[in-house]
Amino acid sequence: MADMSKKSVADILAAARKADAKGDSATASADVVSAPAEEATELTPDAVKAPADLKPATKPGGGRLSVAEMLAAARAQKEGGAAAAAPKAKEKPAAKPAAAPAAKAAPKKEVAAAVAEPLDTQSILASARKSTKPGPMTKAEAQSIGAPIAPAAKKAKAKEAIVVPPMPVKPAYAKPGAKPSKEEIFERRVFIFGMSFLAIGFVGLATTFALWTLGTVRFMFPNILREPPSRFSVGTADKFPPGQVEERFKAQFGVWIVNTEYNGQQQIVALKSVCTHLGCTPNWLEAEQKFKCPCHGSGFYKDGINFEGPAPRPLERYAISIASDGSIEVDKSKTFQEEMGAWNDPASYIPV
Ligand code: FES
Repeated sequence: MADMSKKSVADILAAARKADAKGDSATASADVVSAPAEEATELTPDAVKAPADLKPATKPGGGRLSVAEMLAAARAQKEGGAAAAAPKAKEKPAAKPAAAPAAKAAPKKEVAAAVAEPLDTQSILASARKSTKPGPMTKAEAQSIGAPIAPAAKKAKAKEAIVVPPMPVKPAYAKPGAKPSKEEIFERRVFIFGMSFLAIGFVGLATTFALWTLGTVRFMFPNILREPPSRFSVGTADKFPPGQVEERFKAQFGVWIVNTEYNGQQQIVALKSVCTHLGCTPNWLEAEQKFKCPCHGSGFYKDGINFEGPAPRPLERYAISIASDGSIEVDKSKTFQEEMGAWNDPASYIPV
């Protein structure tokens, strides 16, 4: 018996099946009888004693119980209570096989229903909070436990929960048809005046910033002094008749082209339009046939010799020559000073 009580249900079942196959009644009855005893051992002390009593595990009309019948009887004992079930199994072992399939099928149906209906978070949480049923439960069970509030009841509860404060009293100026008082008008004017100053300030700031940006951008580019070329053509010699002072090139190149006589020789020369006193620009006075400096009154003859005013020396000449195309070409990179005797240089004049 001690060995029997240590056997598991799987061992008992294996032994019972083996007995059924062999048809050995003696072995089968002994092994099979131990099955309900094992089940009973788990339930009550009375059931532990049952194997001896359950030994005649036969049907009322005679015959041996099948394995299925004996298992159904054992489960019925477990569910119905060990104390009550043990004697019943002892007295009516044959009656249980009929109820066994139903008892066996009942928990299977519950498990199937639980598996069929999907579990959700709400049901799990409700189960955990209520703890009326341990473990997961179906949505329907969770809803029944949680007793969900109807939408209308929810709204009513929400209305009760929200306490709406009373609206503030409108000030006098906000009422329809109300006219602002003198103080209010004064305050508005002061506000507008202040805002105007603020706007002017912002405009000034934006302008300053824009100018500063432009200056910065200009700083990125190099300072390039664009000057006219030092060599340029003034046309053929026939365009400069004797005694003429041509002023067309004064503004752009700072030079007069003069057909004049110097030392008994008729020459075409290029006079530099810069006063030899302090660097002002003299003017050609056709009526007086002289160059006159507007700064300090220095005067120069048509050939450039100084004759009045503070100018200490004659005007300077630029280099002049006949180009390959026959035109007169002036070169400002080279100057000739009369006091240095440079005007006798053939490069300083074109003989006519
Ligand atoms: Fe011409 Fe002084 S600069 S007279």
